[in-house]
Amino acid sequence: MAEIETDVLIIGTGPAGSATAALLSSYGIENMAINRYRWLANTPRAHITNQRTMEVLRDLGHDVEEQAYLNAAHQDLMGENVFCESLAGEEIGRMKSWGNHPLSKAEHLLSSPTMMNDLPQTFMEPILFNTACKRGTQARMSTEYISHEQDEAGVTTTCRDRLSGREFQIRSKYLIGADGGSSKVAEHCGLPFEGQMGVGGSMNIVFRADLSKYVAHRPSVLYWVMQPGSNVGGIGMGLVRMVRPWNEWLIVWGYDINEKPPVVDEALATQVAQQLVGDPELEIELLSANTWTVNNMYATHMQKDRVFIMGDAAHRHPPSNGLGSNTSIQDGFNLAWKLAAVIKGEAGGALLDSYSVERAPVAKQIVTRANQSIGEFGPIFESLGMTGGSDHAVIKSNMDARCDTGPSAEKQREAIREAIAFKKYEFDAHGVEMNQRYKSAAVVTDGQMEPAFELDAELHYQPTTWPGARLPHVWVFDHDTGAQVSTLDLCGRGQFTVLTGIGGEAWGKAADAISAEMGVPLRVHVIGPRQTYVDHAGDWARASEIGDTGCLLVRPDQHVAWRVEDMADDPQADLKRALTAILAR
Ligand code: FDA
Repeated sequence: MAEIETDVLIIGTGPAGSATAALLSSYGIENMAINRYRWLANTPRAHITNQRTMEVLRDLGHDVEEQAYLNAAHQDLMGENVFCESLAGEEIGRMKSWGNHPLSKAEHLLSSPTMMNDLPQTFMEPILFNTACKRGTQARMSTEYISHEQDEAGVTTTCRDRLSGREFQIRSKYLIGADGGSSKVAEHCGLPFEGQMGVGGSMNIVFRADLSKYVAHRPSVLYWVMQPGSNVGGIGMGLVRMVRPWNEWLIVWGYDINEKPPVVDEALATQVAQQLVGDPELEIELLSANTWTVNNMYATHMQKDRVFIMGDAAHRHPPSNGLGSNTSIQDGFNLAWKLAAVIKGEAGGALLDSYSVERAPVAKQIVTRANQSIGEFGPIFESLGMTGGSDHAVIKSNMDARCDTGPSAEKQREAIREAIAFKKYEFDAHGVEMNQRYKSAAVVTDGQMEPAFELDAELHYQPTTWPGARLPHVWVFDHDTGAQVSTLDLCGRGQFTVLTGIGGEAWGKAADAISAEMGVPLRVHVIGPRQTYVDHAGDWARASEIGDTGCLLVRPDQHVAWRVEDMADDPQADLKRALTAILAR
């Protein structure tokens, strides 16, 4: 018999595991998270934190959201995205990124109550982990997952205490493999994957050095360096990434995956840093160095009965587009409420099948996008005549050529501009971050057609209340205090929500009756004049895509579950039909 019991056992305390633990604990579900190491993230790794992730943190509580902003570099410092010969050398071009172009900034402001920011993993993980532990998660460090066996009633997991070497068992109702890109849980479940691991080789060099004089006038998270060899392996170009402005940095430099990985000692790290910064005298305080491989692989199914995988365990890709930890946290937001509903007896077990149906397409999309972004550096190299060569003289003459007079130099300058502008698919892909629409049994469309994307779906977020889409954010106003409140704030926190308007009160009554009958908490908000929340600006009327007497049923993860445009003949029967289907009752 197992010595320890819990409802949900989570392997891994990275962004995926810690976020899921924090959410489950917030929903009142017993859970345990284990980590084979005795530390949380010890290198900065993931850093770009997008609005959808910040919405998850905001759902965990304003205190959690505030901690993130306090520890992050502000969005204003993220945006110049410079392409250069070296930090000290000639600049080739730049593009405003991460929502800093005024047009993109407007789209960001309109889309979410939150702000994108740069929060290194060394800060994000402790915020999520502390939240989880404070709210009830039992965490065990230096505890390694070894294997698991599942039966009809639960999962028995064998772990090793790395301090004593002793093996012991944990019995849980469900098991989550949030154990990263070399996931043993995924392997032991035999889950199907597509793609390839190890398509490129790269090294990370983390160091301290004050580089203000090269960067403070063009603040950015990313400085891309074009030098001989910078298109070998790696993530498309040499990268000097800001970790803390402007004295802590992470260099990403590629190596040929067909060769043995280099040993990145202090001498090599210093040499690479001097070369990319363009200062042969530069002294660095080396903090860490390691090699890693570029992967291009995703799970096509993320569940085996009572076992789930999430985060890098399911999607393995390079850091391009900054989607790694963001998607991992968002996987947790999708699964946690479903587990809570099933464990509390509010939903049938089949609700859990919707997790893989909804998240596996996202895994494929982001792995494909991140790898495609590496290839999309190609036109920049081509426009500078730098394909495949490492001859300094040729590169220099091509760089010089772009400064000439005459039509061919003008054409070259245009090609450089266009190639750099095209990189918005990596550095300002707001649609990739925000447009996730779910199609599964946990959403009832009643035959309503999905609205087509009017703009490029990778670049632009398009709000809609079509069931499956994330609830659009607009500001409404607290009737008593006048404070602005996001529509997203009216929902979430582990509960379903019914939103309606003046004349839609019958939906409220229906919700109360069904809540009592089905034992599922349902929150109701009527938005309109003299109601608790008032739509002074008319933004909700424009965004809701329903009439005042219509109804939106919103899932705990803020995705619309069901929509009716006007009052139904029998609101109680209709709402019950929808909720019964969504919860697989
Ligand atoms: P993650 O790998 O973070 O966590 C896995 C957890 O499982 C850890 O706690 C680990 O100890 C634990 N674990 C694993 N096996 C276990 C076992 N058998 N028993 C118990 N515990 C076990 N992303 C990005 O957006 N920008 C970037 O610059 C980078 N750079 C980068 C560099 C390097 C070197 C790496 C390894 C990764 C990146 N990433 C990145 C990717 C980013 O860090 C990644 O997407 C997220 O950390 C994924 O979060 P997860 O929680 O899924 O896995």
